[in-house]
Amino acid sequence: MTKTSTVRALQLAKAEGRKISMVTAYDATFARLIDGAGVDAILVGDSLGNVIQGHGTTLPVTIDHMVYHCQAVMRGVSQAHVVGDLPFMSYQANPDDAMRNAGRLMAEGGVHGVKLEGGRQFADLVARMTGAGIPVMGHLGLTPQSVHQLGGFRVQGREPEAAERLLDDALALQQAGAYALVLEMVPAELGARVTEALTIPTIGIGAGAATDGQVLVCYDLLGLNDGFKPRFLKRWANLAETVTEAVRAYDQEVKAGTFPADEHSF
Ligand code: KIV
Repeated sequence: MTKTSTVRALQLAKAEGRKISMVTAYDATFARLIDGAGVDAILVGDSLGNVIQGHGTTLPVTIDHMVYHCQAVMRGVSQAHVVGDLPFMSYQANPDDAMRNAGRLMAEGGVHGVKLEGGRQFADLVARMTGAGIPVMGHLGLTPQSVHQLGGFRVQGREPEAAERLLDDALALQQAGAYALVLEMVPAELGARVTEALTIPTIGIGAGAATDGQVLVCYDLLGLNDGFKPRFLKRWANLAETVTEAVRAYDQEVKAGTFPADEHSF
């Protein structure tokens, strides 16, 4: 039996004042490395639309793509809690489709919970999912599936009315049964306010230091994404340079005829 960081373990972390670390993964190899580093949770994010598929937004990602990547990630994980994103239009159009798609991420993808973007308008759906045994993580603030409606990738909840709305949305999701909440690109003060108001953990990305946990896209924190430099991002490695240098060295050795050497030959 593998050890799994459960919904309850994440909630206990908040109750005991321990910070939660979450990182995205999209394939088995990265999932194994990230899981082995000891993170609490892995998110199979629809950000794969950007970093894996090369799109400018997450909108083209489908539920079939998500199931495929959730399956790959689950093959690499032995301890972390794994959450799969419900992609654009897999839950917005009608509640029965939403239930079936969330069920696919759990049953076919094998993840431990699903995440969806949006506030009180999805409270009934969140209640129905949790009632069916599907743990739901909410996502408020900058919700990338609504990028065109929001007018770009910009900080949300700066104005007092917008901050109040976001707080009410957070409370509605908690009331509906959501077990945790991602807060993306909101002022640090609002991140702290929402965290204080909720009993469920908040996991921030560009939401300040007071949230109960942090999440980053693995390609960003590893420095694989040269051109992407938002203020909230810190890089702990420069893998883009490492990869380019390694492949350049390989290319030069192949062309010079020095690879393969005797020890690489049969
Ligand atoms: O898709 C994703 O990776 C996300 C995180 C950035 C929170 O939703």
